[in-house]
Amino acid sequence: MLHPVILSGGSGTRLWPLSRQNQPKQFLALMGDHSLYQETVQRANQLPAAQPPVTVCSEEHRFMVGEQLQAVGIASGGILLEPVARSTAPAIALAALHVLARDPEATLLVMPADHLIADETAFREAVSAAARLAEDGWLVTFGITPDYAETGYGYILRGEGLGEGGYRVQRFVEKPDLATAERYVAEGVYAWNSGMFLFRARRYLDELAQHAPAILQAAQAAYASSKADLDFMRIDRDAFAASPSDSIDYAVMEKTSRAAVVPVSCGWSDIGSWSSLWSVAERDGDGNRYEGDVIAVDTRDSLVRASDRRMIATIGVEDLVIVDTADATLVARKDRVQDVKAVVDRLKAAG
Ligand code: GDD
Ligand code: MG
Repeated sequence: MLHPVILSGGSGTRLWPLSRQNQPKQFLALMGDHSLYQETVQRANQLPAAQPPVTVCSEEHRFMVGEQLQAVGIASGGILLEPVARSTAPAIALAALHVLARDPEATLLVMPADHLIADETAFREAVSAAARLAEDGWLVTFGITPDYAETGYGYILRGEGLGEGGYRVQRFVEKPDLATAERYVAEGVYAWNSGMFLFRARRYLDELAQHAPAILQAAQAAYASSKADLDFMRIDRDAFAASPSDSIDYAVMEKTSRAAVVPVSCGWSDIGSWSSLWSVAERDGDGNRYEGDVIAVDTRDSLVRASDRRMIATIGVEDLVIVDTADATLVARKDRVQDVKAVVDRLKAAG
């Protein structure tokens, strides 16, 4: 059976000042009424024959997750609470152990909680194709045609066709440097890794045993001594803290010989920064996106987000991001918003 697993442990620092440690971006209603997490849960729930989704998140966010699930009326397949963050490879290992306890033949569909997918039909078709490949033991990725040399993504070089619209992965390179990413995009034969994965749970644990045994051992020990509490599983702190911190991309996907890719064109985007949010948002004729009380005169290609405390007025500016909250305001050039992370790092350093 297909078990969606929603990874919801990231902190989304590049969407500061809206995204905060106790309120990361996946739980915010950035566009519309629902958070990205709720949209992901709904997307998972609409897949044919999918089991209730399993969420893996930080212990700190348990109430938010519980409330947000309840608000959309979707049954939970379990909420696994991480006492410390160890990145995605251990998080997925916990989910695999959790579903295998109930379903020894379980297949996992790993979905980050912070992505947008515009074409749900195309997405569902790709998932069905991937599920057939996973039956044959493939670890399936979903490949997106790249539009620019993004260094924050993984790149996939496709090999021979496997049927079902899938291909063997000849090479998987996580977060290449800029020169390499530029070369990959120019070559026109690489796809971006969407960050969603589909594989048999058992297969994933076997891959960890081979390529990252310390992660597998720590996850097994931590899950075995976790405590069930209603929908929550409290993962054992000391055992989980012993796990190396590594992502599935580095720990498994770059190393396995059993990776496959299903190319998909489903209007995918990763809401990683204010500029990516601007680029997927509906904008007016001048290329602006406003939220809240904003008066813009001669303003172009900007994202302006007022808090409910005061209005924002802009005159004669372009390519800006302005985000106001109760206690902090960001003003940045749109092409520099990746550096919001530097602000957050300074805030952390200042305690
Ligand atoms: N539960 C849990 N625990 N979730 C986590 C943790 C963790 O320790 N760390 C990250 N996540 C969640 C994030 O919230 C996000 O939903 C997802 O896992 C992926 O983590 P990111 O930190 O956003 O990864 P990335 O964007 O750097 O890279 C991944 O996604 C790219 C596409 O968006 C990789 O898979 C790349 O190859 C891919 O191109
Ligand atoms: Mg991401």
